Amino acid sequence: MTQHYETILNHYQFTQEDSDILMSLEQRMQPLREEFINGFYDYIWKFGETATFLKNKEVISYHREKIQEWFVNLFCGKYDMNYFIYLYKIGEIHVKIGLPTHYVNAAFTYVRTFISKQLQNDCNNREKLLKELRAVEKIIDVNLDVLTSSYREEELSKFLSMSKGERKILIGLKHFTSYANLLLAGALALVAIFAVSLFSYDVYNMFFSDEEIQKGILTVFGSLLILWAAIELIHEEIKHLQGDGFAIGTFIMLAMAALIRKILIYSLSPSKMHELLIIGLVTVGLAVAYWLVGINKRTLID
Ligand code: HEM
Repeated sequence: MTQHYETILNHYQFTQEDSDILMSLEQRMQPLREEFINGFYDYIWKFGETATFLKNKEVISYHREKIQEWFVNLFCGKYDMNYFIYLYKIGEIHVKIGLPTHYVNAAFTYVRTFISKQLQNDCNNREKLLKELRAVEKIIDVNLDVLTSSYREEELSKFLSMSKGERKILIGLKHFTSYANLLLAGALALVAIFAVSLFSYDVYNMFFSDEEIQKGILTVFGSLLILWAAIELIHEEIKHLQGDGFAIGTFIMLAMAALIRKILIYSLSPSKMHELLIIGLVTVGLAVAYWLVGINKRTLID
């Protein structure tokens, strides 16, 4: 990939003039490395999960040092094969430690803002300033491109390392999953319609049938529970379609809601004690499963 570095520079219309401008800025940027890194760390620390990657003092001090070097290097004026190899290595290290590309992208906003603020503070020649800003924008974009390309290559290399048959199966499975997900979304919409109908029917029964009002209220309450769980399930499916994990916990919740509805209804008739006991036991079993799924999810996040 590195042999294409000239193509990358061309795509960003990076010229010799840009190189010269950046090199001329090095003298001004070098003394700012300390201010830059302090701001950079304040910025990335607000991501919340930064400490998961920058685990201890040694890693932090190493990273601070390396980022300062990288910052000054932005203005080295020589963007050749070695420079690109250097950038690819940074990208590869980020991929290796599992750093989400989003963090790198977000950190670049700080870099961009910091440099343009400094340039604007120092300059009173508008035309010169515009040229400097343009050159800085280009080199920042090139850096971001190369740093994040390792992520794309990691995905691509996994895919390319598969045999032809494996690739076909993977593509087939991906298609199948997207159709199955659409089917699931349709089925869930139906469940929601049924849940609304059940709720309306129970409300109707409460007022217009001979049923005891006490039983009617509990039945309505039960169907409301199902409606709420169905809405929750649709919400989770939307998140799943947008790329989140599968929410098995919500399915369990829906099953629990349906059983709780039965318990509410049966609790009023003494002849149903046996069924009540069985449903109660199944509900407790589901509650335990729900709790275990929750623990597993929290462990994965930690
Ligand atoms: C502008 C964005 C960033 C740049 C330019 C950058 C640059 C670097 C550089 C130069 C290295 C050292 C590579 C080497 O050892 O040769 C590195 C490693 C690393 N970076 Fe970044 N980084 C950026 C963003 C981040 C962010 C946002 C995090 C964490 C949230 C992070 C976490 C790390 C970690 C954990 C290492 C490995 C440190 C070690 O080897 O112990 N980086 N990065």
